[in-house]
Amino acid sequence: MGASSGIGREVAKLLLADGWELGLAARREEPLLELKAMAPEGSRVEVMPIDVCRADAGDMLLRLADRLGGMDLYFHASGIGKQNRTLDASIELSTTETNAMGFVRLVGEAYRYFIRRGRGHIAAISSIAGTKGLGPAPSYSATKALQATYLQALDQLARQSGQRIQITDIRPGFVDTALLHGDFKYPMMLRPEDVARDIVQSIRRGRHIRLIDWRYRLLTCLWRLLPDGLWRRMKL
Ligand SMILES: NC(=O)c1ccc[n+]([C@@H]2O[C@H](COP(=O)([O-])OP(=O)(O)OC[C@H]3O[C@@H](n4cnc5c(N)ncnc54)[C@H](OP(=O)(O)O)[C@@H]3O)[C@@H](O)[C@H]2O)c1
Repeated sequence: MGASSGIGREVAKLLLADGWELGLAARREEPLLELKAMAPEGSRVEVMPIDVCRADAGDMLLRLADRLGGMDLYFHASGIGKQNRTLDASIELSTTETNAMGFVRLVGEAYRYFIRRGRGHIAAISSIAGTKGLGPAPSYSATKALQATYLQALDQLARQSGQRIQITDIRPGFVDTALLHGDFKYPMMLRPEDVARDIVQSIRRGRHIRLIDWRYRLLTCLWRLLPDGLWRRMKL
């Protein structure tokens, strides 16, 4: 979900090269068809335009899984985000709609599907932005914290109820994709191709939480150690 651009597209390319049968989804169908056309010969690829904000998005996901004869891995890369220092209401609400409601709708649908199937793996990209509330991007940081907490809750739920459902939470730092274009220049920018390689490896190894890369692991450790009083005064 979210294979039409950025990190999701790069992950899809790697999985295709690895021989996976893939269901590609996002709102824009054209880039998904382009990706399908690039797949190695003989690959099984299905495309379905899905908007995670629509009430029927969960049913569409199930239809896509059916077309492929079942789903082993659900990968959620869909998301939007913008700096919003003026607290523009439409940005705050659409971000919440996509990253919170859309996320819970689709990840929840995949979880229930895997309960019925008896096993499965859910991997999703949250962000290092969920580590603390970030003044320049209130709804983005808050919805990324929601995503991380939701995945942690599902992981515990699966273990407590004896479900064979694996959960992987991917938290990258700044990545050079369309999501950041138009905002100011970001430091320590990662390449989507490198992040995608790390993600595929983390999925294969069944990691629970993966922060990308080591510099952001260090940075978020420091953020966590900062006393609240200092964080409140920090200029980001
Ligand atoms: N770039 C970064 O620095 C960074 C850092 C940490 C985490 N992340 C997270 O990584 C994920 C991927 O972002 P990206 O950087 O690769 O940005 P991107 O290139 O803008 O990709 C975002 C993807 O989400 C899809 N999407 C957006 N709204 C959707 C909706 N309503 N329904 C279905 N799909 C939707 C987009 O497809 P359509 O427009 O075709 O629907 C696109 O495929 C996001 O969750 C983002 O928050 C990004």
